Amino acid sequence: MKSLLMEFVAVTEAAALASFYWIGRGNKHEADHAATSAMRNKLNQIAFAGKIVIGEGELDQAPMLYIGERVGTGTGIPCDIAVDPLEGTSLIAKGQSNSIAVLAVAEAGSLLHAPDMYMEKIAVGPRAAGKIDIEAPLIENMQAVAKANGKALQDLTVMVQDRPRHQKIIDTVQAAGGRVHLFSDGDVTFAIAASLEGSGVDMFVGIGGAPEGVVSAVAVKCLGGEMQARLQPQNEQEYSRCLQMGLAKPEETLTMNRLVGSDECIFAATGVTDSLLLRGVRQGAGARQITQSFMLYGRDKTIHYLDSVHPKRGDNIT
Ligand code: FBP
Repeated sequence: MKSLLMEFVAVTEAAALASFYWIGRGNKHEADHAATSAMRNKLNQIAFAGKIVIGEGELDQAPMLYIGERVGTGTGIPCDIAVDPLEGTSLIAKGQSNSIAVLAVAEAGSLLHAPDMYMEKIAVGPRAAGKIDIEAPLIENMQAVAKANGKALQDLTVMVQDRPRHQKIIDTVQAAGGRVHLFSDGDVTFAIAASLEGSGVDMFVGIGGAPEGVVSAVAVKCLGGEMQARLQPQNEQEYSRCLQMGLAKPEETLTMNRLVGSDECIFAATGVTDSLLLRGVRQGAGARQITQSFMLYGRDKTIHYLDSVHPKRGDNIT
């Protein structure tokens, strides 16, 4: 699978380049459509047998990159694919930072088939891996992470999405003397941040999309961190959807290995707008565009960064 790393990063580059035009134009649907179409086109040029397990939705809601769609040429290694062609659609529509194009690939059968619903998540970096328990009170997890990271509770930084549903988390962190870093959208970036040396982030906690949860889990695993999760079905229909997708106990704890069951996995992301992880797409000289990407492979835990200068739009879109 590692030999396909550069081909997979070309997929997120294509999605980022296609959505660049839509930055700040107030149309998140067109931006997402452009990214999805470019991503699917590139994926279908790669010699492998991919199956979308986390995608743009069910076949009746999404004509491209829907759950169950087969991608790639169909010859080569069979893989599970999780995509988020444009993570942070509202951010790009408003011209704000932190939107990225993301792809995760793993050995066939190893990615959690998570329905599109909310998921409770906790993610930490390598030093605190093995020390967290999503079922324990937040304060106990904070104490464990502070100890593992060699910090006082007061020096802990916790990433939390700025939503009313997270008020209790915010209060708990602040009452313990810790810092919250609130972000508006795009929780993949912030879940990964805790696993990046030098990011200053110790933990990511909160409820966000389950598809984003599985995508982030691949990156966290590749970086040697830990993520745990629990699905949060909001009604009977969502509960039944979990059962249909083979999740017999929808609210049970999903461990790192349950989210991503193999080290044979790849994560690739390209910046659309500037973020904590990556620079966004930039207009270079002579109508060329410059992208920055980030790729990880589960077996070597190395972070590869790639800066690319692309031919002018149209020349490289096949
Ligand atoms: P989109 O890219 O689909 O707009 O999702 C952005 C996002 O912030 C995710 O990163 C996060 O998991 C989810 O939305 C949270 O959902 P909500 O906006 O309902 O709180």
